[in-house]
Amino acid sequence: SSEVRADATGTPPTVLAHRGASAYAPENTLAAVDKAAELGIKWVENDVQRTKDGELVVIHDDNLRRTTDVEEVFPGRAPWKVKDFTAAEIARLDAGSWFGPAYAGARVPTLERYMDRVERHRQRLLLEIKNPGLYPGIERQTLKVLGNEGWLDRSHLGRLIVQSFSADSVRTVHDLKPAVKTGFLGTPAVADLPGLAGFTDQINPSYGSISTGYVAAVHAFTGPHGKPLEVFTWTVDDAANARRVAGYGVDGIITNKPDVVRDAVRGR
Ligand code: G3P
Ligand code: CA
Repeated sequence: SSEVRADATGTPPTVLAHRGASAYAPENTLAAVDKAAELGIKWVENDVQRTKDGELVVIHDDNLRRTTDVEEVFPGRAPWKVKDFTAAEIARLDAGSWFGPAYAGARVPTLERYMDRVERHRQRLLLEIKNPGLYPGIERQTLKVLGNEGWLDRSHLGRLIVQSFSADSVRTVHDLKPAVKTGFLGTPAVADLPGLAGFTDQINPSYGSISTGYVAAVHAFTGPHGKPLEVFTWTVDDAANARRVAGYGVDGIITNKPDVVRDAVRGR
């Protein structure tokens, strides 16, 4: 569309499927990754947390209730926190029926299984360390799993970004593996950007919180890999807002409807 400004290079923003293509398949499941692939979307976003027995699993809430049948399967186990269930227990849960009967039997994936599927589709991964305060050491553990799966090899590094709402968590990831690209979720004050730019490559704000001026202010700082800080914004699900934030010059748009956003910003 003609009113949409491209960024400085004229490239449309990268489109990322939020929790997979989560408007069309249950979030953070293999089905949501498959759906993104089917739509031709290269980047998927997901959330990682940890079970009682130390397994990394892909789920957004710190609680299993909203996206699984945990209350039926384990009625006596309120308040149904992810961290209070073993991986074997979580593997029994149905993480698809809440979304629709076609997805009955979908599971909460382990991080390994999720990455295997992303790899099979040759997709790229924006991995969010969710609620790190609940899971001491999750940054090191996540990097270990990524490494085991080959995602820290030089050939894979361009396909991976690790992000968090916790600046401490982002800094820890950067300190442990400086080669890994990182993102800080939020809309920090411009005065805080110089400090953040020491360990994060991206500032990833909600779309309602930004403007052309803010995006330009972020771009003016250089990140730990010697490039301007990038902005990936979330969660934009309609064409008008996608065009608007593309006009602000954002580098990426995180969306539950990646087909809608791609069509809105393509061909600029
Ligand atoms: O990737 C951005 C977005 O996922 C942050 O919010 O709550 O969906 O994890 P949330
Ligand atoms: Ca997320």
